[in-house]
Amino acid sequence: MTIAKRRAGRFSAVEVALPAVVLLLSAPQARAFFHNSPDLEQGRVIYTANCASCHGADLAGQPDWQTADADGTYPAPPHDASGHTWHHGDIMLRDYIKRGGQAVLGEMGVAYASGMPAFGDRLTDSDIEAVLDYIKSTWPEDIRAIQAERSAIEAGAP
Ligand code: HEC
Repeated sequence: MTIAKRRAGRFSAVEVALPAVVLLLSAPQARAFFHNSPDLEQGRVIYTANCASCHGADLAGQPDWQTADADGTYPAPPHDASGHTWHHGDIMLRDYIKRGGQAVLGEMGVAYASGMPAFGDRLTDSDIEAVLDYIKSTWPEDIRAIQAERSAIEAGAP
């Protein structure tokens, strides 16, 4: 499905307007906005060592990731723009990586066996930040802008 169709189907006017606002930034401002991490290489290394076995070296996820396995767990979804990682704000993403799917969904009252492990005992907060920055660096700029807006709303921005 194209990005345009997804946007038409699911997003509010604010989300549709945001990429246009970003286009109004000057080129250096836009570069600073999108490439503010010196950690991308570190993030790629952490991703390859910890995440690629399930989410794919190319971030494409596992086959048929939207269909539950026989045991009720779901395969690992993609982290590229075809997945739903970018539908979530940073706070939720960090939490999910740190505490794992079971803990986060359980707290939300969702009874669900999650195949997403907790990485809080293996990765530091800055490792998690670097891996998220790496994942984001693979998204097209309009998707990054939408996710940044969601993160701002999630963090309580006016
Ligand atoms: C053992 C396999 C496995 C490994 C390794 C793994 N994941 Fe996952 N992950 C999953 C599965 C399965 C899901 C699907 C949802 C669920 O069951 O919670 C998931 C879901 C997620 C989600 C929530 C869905 C989304 O796209 O927003 C995030 C974020 C995530 N993983 C990030 C990571 C990161 C970052 C790493 C490496 C540090 C990692 N995962 C390593 C299996 C894995």
